[in-house]
Amino acid sequence: MTDTSPAEAGPTSTTGRTPGGRVAVVVGGASGIGAATVAALRDDGCTVVVADLESALGEAAGDRDGVAVDVTDEASVEALFAGVLEREGRLDVVVNSAGVSTLAQVVDHPVDEFRRVLDVCLTGAFCVIKHAAQRMTAGGVVISLASLNARQPGAGMAAYCSAKAGLAMLTEVAALELGPRGIRVNAIAPGLVITPLTAPAMDIPGVRDDYLANTPLGRPGRPEEVADAAVFISRAEWLTGEVMDLNGGAHLQRYPDLVGHVTRAFG
Ligand SMILES: NC(=O)c1ccc[n+]([C@@H]2O[C@H](COP(=O)([O-])OP(=O)(O)OC[C@H]3O[C@@H](n4cnc5c(N)ncnc54)[C@H](O)[C@@H]3O)[C@@H](O)[C@H]2O)c1
Repeated sequence: MTDTSPAEAGPTSTTGRTPGGRVAVVVGGASGIGAATVAALRDDGCTVVVADLESALGEAAGDRDGVAVDVTDEASVEALFAGVLEREGRLDVVVNSAGVSTLAQVVDHPVDEFRRVLDVCLTGAFCVIKHAAQRMTAGGVVISLASLNARQPGAGMAAYCSAKAGLAMLTEVAALELGPRGIRVNAIAPGLVITPLTAPAMDIPGVRDDYLANTPLGRPGRPEEVADAAVFISRAEWLTGEVMDLNGGAHLQRYPDLVGHVTRAFG
């Protein structure tokens, strides 16, 4: 952790945080796992800035610490972290939960759609790590949301699986480079968690049952369980370069046949 004296904490906070308290930014913090992580980090005493697409922040109206960002726009990511540092005087914890997915088989995959998913999930995460780490001092930590799909292939998920596998390796490389500066870089790789991202797939007949049949603990995760892992990692001062499986044991079995279920349901 990076508690500093009030004198080191920089300019007066506009968000009323306790001097010396940790400042966190959750990118993709308006929904799902990100929103649960915002709440968990606040419970843990952090001042938390919620960063998300302007449209998503609008839906999460009422969060006084919301900042619009699009991770596919490097200038927007840079402005986010420069602004937080200027307002809060420090940057301790960054969680990158921005993500999108798509379903298409390789031979039919529109390349623009492939690029869109990589742009958000991989290049976007790169921009977040880059611009956050430029402004962190020793004790800072970046936590990305990778996925079970970083290690487990799913038919129809070439873009998402490739992006998340890339993000897992990016996490390791960044941890290697930033360790000597005392900055930690880790990722959480969740299995199925029901959120706005995954809820639509649960309506496809057979999909939910297939997930659960391939999950030894027999249930999906809750966003709060992933958020708890993020809080743990934020405090685990000897942990870096880790991509933490958190999936009820699903990595021990096989990924559901999404393409098969879609084909049987819709022809
Ligand atoms: N839900 C799951 O089962 C699951 C499993 C493994 C990994 N993940 C990963 O966890 C993360 C959070 O997923 P979730 O289920 O909470 O999804 P979600 O859709 O509820 O939240 C994702 C957030 O990312 C934001 N976002 C999308 N594009 C963005 C962009 N260009 N710039 C900034 N923000 C952007 C969205 O507005 C949204 O608020 C994602 O990276 C996802 O891939 C989710």
